[in-house]
Amino acid sequence: MDALRVSVWRGKESGEFRTYEVPQFASQTVLDVVTYIQRNLEPTLSYRFACRVGMCGSCAMTVNGKARWTCRTHAAKVAAGNALEIAPLNHLPVIKDLVTDMTRFFDKWAQAQGQFRGERTRKDDFARVKPDSAQRQQADAGIECIGCGVCYSACDVVAWNPDYLGPAALNRAWTLLTDVRDIARVERLAAVAGDAGCHACHTHMSCTELCPKHIAPTASIAGLKRAVTGAVLKGEL
Ligand code: SF4
Ligand code: SF4
Ligand code: FES
Repeated sequence: MDALRVSVWRGKESGEFRTYEVPQFASQTVLDVVTYIQRNLEPTLSYRFACRVGMCGSCAMTVNGKARWTCRTHAAKVAAGNALEIAPLNHLPVIKDLVTDMTRFFDKWAQAQGQFRGERTRKDDFARVKPDSAQRQQADAGIECIGCGVCYSACDVVAWNPDYLGPAALNRAWTLLTDVRDIARVERLAAVAGDAGCHACHTHMSCTELCPKHIAPTASIAGLKRAVTGAVLKGEL
């Protein structure tokens, strides 16, 4: 197999792509490619990962123009010929090389009231929500989000409107809204009802197309739009 020609972003907001030759091997992931470069060719290359098995959400990068989780993306499947271009995620400040500052991304989860609020204490019995109930299934649809930022990086509205809460935070708000144990419904709807909230989504679907966990933030956001409208009509907002 010919070596991969890998262009990697070096620098901060300003910088340049530098090209490295990386030997190919079976089942090689994009994260393996970046790791090879750092261990063998460019020890100062900065990148982020933790679990390597698709759970932590820390390894997302832009690969040949699309945001992807690199630990579960096979290089051979996304290379154009033998060429790979690896850049940091879009719409987030670059700290160095492939590492972005996720602060704003997670701050928006907090702004969207992304923390569960229940009324039970540790002295109460467990809440039992039947796995086959419609509400449970609705909440389950978005709950496996790993906070990777792929959807946020893919969303054009985030580029136009930096205050837009974005698909991940809104998906989280919807997941809590559909959780029968949560008691912060009206506060949560108020948090996502403004100009930077669910109504700013243009339903472009890029988030849903690229989410590695096959979550559909577009559907969650549509649910929020309906819920906000319903709450306005009832005079709750
Ligand atoms: S569907 Fe909405 S949130 Fe998702 S990428 Fe498009 S505009 Fe962004
Ligand atoms: S919704 Fe999907 S793409 Fe967005 S942060 Fe969660 S797991 Fe990543
Ligand atoms: S390293 Fe954890 S999801 Fe990729």
